[in-house]
Amino acid sequence: MHSTLNSSLPTLPRLRTSLPGKRAQELIARDVAVTSPSYTRGYPLVVAKGEGCMVEDVDGNVFLDMTAGIAVTATGHAHPQVVEAIQQQAANLLHMSGTDFYYEPMVVLAESLANRAPFPANDGVRARVFFTNSGAESNEGAIKLARYYTKRDRVLAFLGGFHGRTYGAMSLTASKKVQREGFGSLLPGVNHIPYGTHASLDYLEKQLFLTVLPPQEIAAIVVEAIQGEGGYLVPEDGFLARIREICDRHGILMIVDEVQSGMGRTGKLFAIEHWEVMPDIITLAKGIASGLPLGAILSRPEIMTWQPGSHATTFGGNPVACAAANVTLSLLEAELLDNAHQRGEELQAGLNKLAQKFKQVSPARGKGLMVAIDLLDTEGNLNPELRNQIVDRAFHHGLLLLGCGKAAIRFCPPLVISQEQIQVALEILDKVIRE
Ligand SMILES: Cc1ncc(COP(=O)(O)O)c(C=O)c1O
Repeated sequence: MHSTLNSSLPTLPRLRTSLPGKRAQELIARDVAVTSPSYTRGYPLVVAKGEGCMVEDVDGNVFLDMTAGIAVTATGHAHPQVVEAIQQQAANLLHMSGTDFYYEPMVVLAESLANRAPFPANDGVRARVFFTNSGAESNEGAIKLARYYTKRDRVLAFLGGFHGRTYGAMSLTASKKVQREGFGSLLPGVNHIPYGTHASLDYLEKQLFLTVLPPQEIAAIVVEAIQGEGGYLVPEDGFLARIREICDRHGILMIVDEVQSGMGRTGKLFAIEHWEVMPDIITLAKGIASGLPLGAILSRPEIMTWQPGSHATTFGGNPVACAAANVTLSLLEAELLDNAHQRGEELQAGLNKLAQKFKQVSPARGKGLMVAIDLLDTEGNLNPELRNQIVDRAFHHGLLLLGCGKAAIRFCPPLVISQEQIQVALEILDKVIRE
């Protein structure tokens, strides 16, 4: 039986049944009968409760969560201050629609994000903010804004990039074939080049710009500061700064997708701040409200000039989600940015020790708590089967992991993770690699 809502979970894994347990098996059978087969469940975890970095399944097994629900629960599962803010806001006002009316939590959040946006400090506000419900919707709106403002049509994105699954966002996404196959034609005028290297930008400037892609027709270059689903890939030094220069030279807007890398995950509020590059537009979602559905488009103020009615949404900027986000931001700044940085260093150091010990493990990469390793075969080639096996074995030892890229394991725990929990995750990993 799972524990009652008020009891605390242990801070380390505790397995009580074989996996999946009886209750989990029942629920999975019911789920499979009625939910979309497009979901990608890797292992049979049926969650009942979350607290900090731990989640408990419906059979009373407790897991250490290095996934944060796909890099979302920034302040940990059910942070008491976030829960309290949600409860208070829910009791006051659940919904009114920020499209047609005003309410304080949305004003406060827009001000906070605008004050912190890595855009030039003008005399007036630094940024304008449009609220959405998801990452895809943020990117969808960002494409519209860029086209509207520049009066240009084309968009450039990167191979391996993931920006969401609605038609506009999917046109930018170039992650896995299955995400496009069978869905027909996408947004026209989108080109992709390899991510993260100067060689790719050479190709853009010396080949594409001179042949098939006139730069003066490009509205925006959309880039992840660290490529997320593509494998937690950190770009070469100067890559993002060079995109900024290319954009400046040709009147192109630089859109940085920080849906996964933003909101403190890398130890800074926005990952782009590691490179001191100022984009024109930033898209956010995932961690922004600690688990409630919320996203945002931040733009330099002079760009967000679309007229009333040109872009809107019923639910975006929901007051309960905004209340959760306001507390999330203050927790990030009070301690979690620092914790993400410090725990991230420990995690990478520990993973690099594993890389020295096992030839199947690549050195670690990433920033803060956005970290990955690749799994390799004996010849040093990427080994997706081994990656999948290790993720599965880790689950059976009480450690929740997610893959990304071709053969990578990503580590994106809640930003509240402790030193001890990092060490336990590394110990479990060591054990399952040897199995
Ligand atoms: C960088 C990035 N952009 C956009 C998205 C899409 O976000 P959502 O699933 O909320 O639509 C994701 C999701 O993984 C992402 O990692």
